[in-house]
Amino acid sequence: MNLLDSIKERTKEDHQSVEKVLITELKSLSSMEQYGHLLERLYAFYKPLEDEIQLAIDTTFISDISARKHTERLLQDIHAIHASFKPDTTFNPLSISSTSYALGILYVIEGSTLGGQIIVKMLDKQLSVTSVGAHTYFDSYSEETQKMWTSFKDSMLKIEATINEEEMIRGAKETFSALQSHLTQTKS
Ligand code: HEM
Repeated sequence: MNLLDSIKERTKEDHQSVEKVLITELKSLSSMEQYGHLLERLYAFYKPLEDEIQLAIDTTFISDISARKHTERLLQDIHAIHASFKPDTTFNPLSISSTSYALGILYVIEGSTLGGQIIVKMLDKQLSVTSVGAHTYFDSYSEETQKMWTSFKDSMLKIEATINEEEMIRGAKETFSALQSHLTQTKS
């Protein structure tokens, strides 16, 4: 079993759990206002985390690390819904103890792009988010999504020998769990 099989296997339940929370919320959305609020909460969570990840992981680990950013698109979608937006800065990012831990966080962030196509379809049925241009975060890398995921996995396997597997899995598990708590606590 390689490092990626292992992280997938050991975070399977964490994924199922956060997916359930997010799907329940997505299904309950009945206005663009509510969707905007969800995006703002995701921005509050991901922005500080993304900033830290970009500092913690350099191109010797992930050659295209600077392309693996998603919060600009979140901001774009929020602005497509309403122009004025004051970011909530109450979320304390996870404390990154090592590069392996940071790679675990990045695994969760990059993996979350894979459910995006399903989510955009769900959102379009309910709210036609694409028609107002508020779909770009969940659409992530769009038609390049699979390619970006494959190249992320290739990069991880290339540096497998330098990664502390337990630390990486801890980073991923703590990210899943922090996101789930954040979504639950900030739901109005
Ligand atoms: C509505 C919510 C979600 C749906 C429908 C969904 C769906 C999916 C799907 C279809 C895959 C690909 C499975 C495969 O090809 O093997 C996937 C993988 C993944 N998702 Fe989600 N997902 C959701 C939410 C999330 C969230 C919120 C996160 C993280 C914050 C996340 C993290 C991941 C990760 C890390 C993987 C990669 C698993 C692996 O192959 O190692 N997902 N998801």
